Amino acid sequence: MSQDIDFDRYDRIRPIRWTGDALELLDQRKLPFEVDYVRCTDSDEVAAAIHALTVRGAPAIGISAAWGVVLATRDVQADSGAQALPLLEPAMQRLNAARPTAVNLAWALARMRRVLATAGADWREVLAREAQAISDEDLAANRHMGALGAALIAPGSGVMTHCNTGSLATAGFGTALGVIRAGVAQGRIGKVYAGETRPWLQGARLTSWELQQDGIAPTLVADAAAAHLMKTGAVQWVVVGADRICANGDTANKIGTYQLAISARHHGAKFMVVAPSSTVDMDTPSGEAIEIEERDPGEMFAIGGVRTAAHDIVAWNPVFDVTPHDLIDAIVTEKGVIEHPDAAAMRAAFGG
Ligand code: MRU
Repeated sequence: MSQDIDFDRYDRIRPIRWTGDALELLDQRKLPFEVDYVRCTDSDEVAAAIHALTVRGAPAIGISAAWGVVLATRDVQADSGAQALPLLEPAMQRLNAARPTAVNLAWALARMRRVLATAGADWREVLAREAQAISDEDLAANRHMGALGAALIAPGSGVMTHCNTGSLATAGFGTALGVIRAGVAQGRIGKVYAGETRPWLQGARLTSWELQQDGIAPTLVADAAAAHLMKTGAVQWVVVGADRICANGDTANKIGTYQLAISARHHGAKFMVVAPSSTVDMDTPSGEAIEIEERDPGEMFAIGGVRTAAHDIVAWNPVFDVTPHDLIDAIVTEKGVIEHPDAAAMRAAFGG
């Protein structure tokens, strides 16, 4: 169980720090070469940081947006939450517009709106308490999911992951990376493969760095090497996070996840999605309805500021894809494990 895991060793990185008057975000564009926190003192700075990937990962952007609302309260004079709500709405809309695919952003803002609507004269404190609760609940969910997901993995397994789903992407410990941490701690995982994750290199820069902090040595593979790796039989589980899980179990995650699911199925490896229930969106019926963020094609033209693409080239830069539910063997949330997810299993777990 999660109590067996030494969190002092496996959960030390905190990407989001609330100081009482500012939000400090570990600048993930500079990792692993520089550990530098960016200080945000208003909600538009938080929205800009979310858009720029200073902070990233579905749960982390939800938590940051919640603190962004707390920062926005400084510009508002009101005697009650109901009075403050319409005055805060424009800032909340700008936070919500920062990135479209991860539902955690809208989910966190909806939570902030809900508590605000019924708050009295202490509405500022109510919002600050809610932002802290969103963060605390995320950390607890991750630690619980780590134990639930690791229990599915047979001792000595090889595991592949994609993007970064660790402490950097959450309040701490991580989702898929939490399962990997727990699996390593329990001796279930013999080897961890991390996909590079172009164009932002979340695997090469962030996951590799995070695991190194824990004394876990991942093997980095180019995204294009995944099918070949699975053909060798080295991978028993692909374990990934999610940005949105639909009512039928279809799951949006970092671009490249879908091809990993296809490769896993073809080569007999299992495919696990790990995400808190804040990533479940029962209002979106299937993956067809998810807005997939497309970012500036310029992100594909250079690595670390060095041009790698021919000049005057056209590029397409979708940053998420959808894995259909029938390619997923297990969805792990803090509420439990759903094997072979479909609409009926999702309804049974999360309601209508
Ligand atoms: O563009 P990013 O880096 O925000 O994408 C992140 C991912 O796709 C993660 O896998 C997902 O948000 C889950 S993080 C626990």
